[in-house]
Amino acid sequence: MSNENDSPAGLLQPEALTRAVKEATSAIEGASTPAELAAAKSACLGDKAPVSLARRAIGSLPGPERGEAGRNVNAARAEITAVFEARRAALEAEEAARILREETVDVTARTPRRRVGARHPISVQMDRIADLFVAMGYEIGEGPEVELEWFNFDALNIHPDHPARTMMDTFHLAGGDGGGGSGMVLRTHTSTVQIHTMLRREPPIYTVAPGRVYRTDELDATHSPVFHQTEGLVVDRGITMADLKGTLDHFAKSVFGPDAVTRLRPSYFPFTEPSAEVDVWFSAHKDGARWIEWGGCGMVNPRVLRACGIDPEVYSGFAFGMGVERALMLRHGITDMRDMTDGDVRFPAGLRVEE
Ligand code: PHE
Repeated sequence: MSNENDSPAGLLQPEALTRAVKEATSAIEGASTPAELAAAKSACLGDKAPVSLARRAIGSLPGPERGEAGRNVNAARAEITAVFEARRAALEAEEAARILREETVDVTARTPRRRVGARHPISVQMDRIADLFVAMGYEIGEGPEVELEWFNFDALNIHPDHPARTMMDTFHLAGGDGGGGSGMVLRTHTSTVQIHTMLRREPPIYTVAPGRVYRTDELDATHSPVFHQTEGLVVDRGITMADLKGTLDHFAKSVFGPDAVTRLRPSYFPFTEPSAEVDVWFSAHKDGARWIEWGGCGMVNPRVLRACGIDPEVYSGFAFGMGVERALMLRHGITDMRDMTDGDVRFPAGLRVEE
């Protein structure tokens, strides 16, 4: 911007200063980016800018002229600085407006909902079973998972020397005296809920109790130390095995589909008499159609009714207990139980148990 023809003293001429301000103004106002503005600043206000050279020329003036020349140079410089500051503010505002415009987020915008997870198939299955029985007028029964041995065994007619105590591999709590000389265990079956229910309420009793149970089984494709059962208990006047069979058929159809049929195979449980294994006809089994064991059932043993203060001369009842994982594995062709607990989110997604 300096003019070769300008002598240092010439730069101090009012017209030269006016021209310097004019040129600086158009250079600064022409800058449309921060980089261009920085270049304009060094050209118009830097060491080699006309106003800077003019200031340095003041020293060569005769003493009396220096005061006015100094004021003129300072005024020109102040004007250029003001133009620069205005331009900088304008560019910053433009930049802020651009960011607001381009990077704006509409917090009210509707975005497609993505499911980040799914309910666990076991929970879904247990809720479904609960719904099925609630629709028939049953209540949901509950009991603790850490249990007095008395509830898990004694009250269910499994005495301390009974082989059934060792039939189920039980987790015992170290030093667990639950009071009354009864040790503590992790419940090995949901049949404990039968006892809690019968002690709590008078018949008629219609309850279903889905829940978690524990056994000292090694984890493999078909065993787990933690699994789930659904217990059913009915105690009323005139309950027969036909009621049990009808209820199980209805239950099986809901779990396995409308074609499911059940068969009762004589068996033994200390807390039911007579007792049976419940088999389901599985036409879609990968190794061909066959009966598959689903759970246990029977008529509530009069000794169990009596232990809970219910008169077996007046009331009778039935009970059943089914594995939840087992039903899911059969229905969905799951061959390894561990897939259900490994936590791979693709597993429940692929199952489509939730409609
Ligand atoms: N509690 C038994 C088990 O876990 C199943 C069962 C329940 C059998 C109720 C009869 C009646 O194997």
